[in-house]
Amino acid sequence: MNKFSRDFVFGTGTSAYQIEGAAFEDGKTASIWDTYCSISGNVFRDQSGDIACEHYYRYKEDVQLLKNLGVDSYRFSVSWPRIFPERGEVNKKGIKFYVDLVDELIRNNIKPMVTLYHWDLPQWAYDLGGWLNRDIAVWFEEYARVMFEALGEKVTLWATHNEPFCVSILGYLKGLHAPGHKDLKEALTASHNIFLSHGAAVKAFRSFNFKDSKIGITLNLSPGYPLEQTSENIELAKRADGFVDRWFMDPLFKGSYPVDMVKIYESKIGKLDFIKTGDLEIITEPMDFLGVNFYARNMVKPSQEGLLGYVGVGEKMPQTQEEWDTYPEILFKLLMNIKNEYTSLPIYITENGLALEGYKDDAGDDEKFGTIITSANDIDFVAEDGRVHDEARILYVYNCLKQCLKFIESGGELRGYYLWSLMDNFEWALGYSKRFGITYVNFETQERIIKDSGYWYKKVIESRTLQPKL
Ligand code: FCB
Repeated sequence: MNKFSRDFVFGTGTSAYQIEGAAFEDGKTASIWDTYCSISGNVFRDQSGDIACEHYYRYKEDVQLLKNLGVDSYRFSVSWPRIFPERGEVNKKGIKFYVDLVDELIRNNIKPMVTLYHWDLPQWAYDLGGWLNRDIAVWFEEYARVMFEALGEKVTLWATHNEPFCVSILGYLKGLHAPGHKDLKEALTASHNIFLSHGAAVKAFRSFNFKDSKIGITLNLSPGYPLEQTSENIELAKRADGFVDRWFMDPLFKGSYPVDMVKIYESKIGKLDFIKTGDLEIITEPMDFLGVNFYARNMVKPSQEGLLGYVGVGEKMPQTQEEWDTYPEILFKLLMNIKNEYTSLPIYITENGLALEGYKDDAGDDEKFGTIITSANDIDFVAEDGRVHDEARILYVYNCLKQCLKFIESGGELRGYYLWSLMDNFEWALGYSKRFGITYVNFETQERIIKDSGYWYKKVIESRTLQPKL
């Protein structure tokens, strides 16, 4: 089989903080990302999402971009502090922005997919303890209800959270994302409370009795792989899988945390006493779909420097043809593993894509955030002919989509694929140094230029078939 069906959903994705800009307009207050970016040294070149792609003002133009690309659906997120600038205070102007965006999408025949939490926690919620305070499940549910009420069934797919791993582990253990903490117990508490808030929101959603709207969650999954085939390496790869994937999949689908990981964590921080009786029933509230974000595998080797006895190797994204036959294959295995081990729920790939470097200058030498530019092919730039020839991205996406087809052929319920991202944007701590878009954004003029990958994707969507080249 080499054809996607007509009802397979092809989309692209973005998130509020990464594209909207208008950081303090129309009543919006600070999120933890506004705060984090304002502290020098946290983000590449001290950049921020203050302006980003100015999507808040240009959303109509961006919907036309989506229309030109021919996508069936668009995944975006809502900025919680736009809706609740303060505890218990609803901001009508914030709601209006998303109502207008959704209406504009529907007018253009594009199905909205909304993520409620894509990392921009209101600062007020953080000041009350943020994800470390169990009460956050109540605040989140309140926020979710306001959005369900405002957008309801116009939204085809709702996701409660995007990548709880990144929120908890990158934000509370590794200090790489807002709020920049470095504490294992905090990270595990945060992930648990995220799940409680998820369960509460799913339950609230059901009380609306929507017929045409579904709800799920998006996880980033990155299977562990041993660098060498020794029993020690293999064991550590399993642990790495426990750390990134199983810790998040098991509670949702098995109603328990993985025993091997609980043991390891308890040996480090004592009893996981933030898990209370009855919590897992809340967390396993039945959903309608699982969203999977897939970027790379998690290859590991033993090292005492790592918290869990291993370190990741080859953390850089696969950027060139060299790696293309290896990585995408993992996507098929990952999807089969979900199907065989966890759930028969429909799956959507809610993110997949490739970063190329954002700068042609010496940005690559930056010590903390540095990524060395290895060849001209690693850079997204506008060529003399006015186009962006991002062949590496086309090839990568092509190979991942092939794995999707293989999964569907094997009986997998894969319903859709959202390419990350609609356009270049603020890549969190890496600022604007990485471009993930299928549309190039000139951040000085805000001009958008569809890249070759965008034109290629348009052809895929129209024809439902795959070619490795434009
Ligand atoms: C994911 C995030 C998304 C984007 C991509 C590249 O972890 O969900 O916002 O930054 O990575």
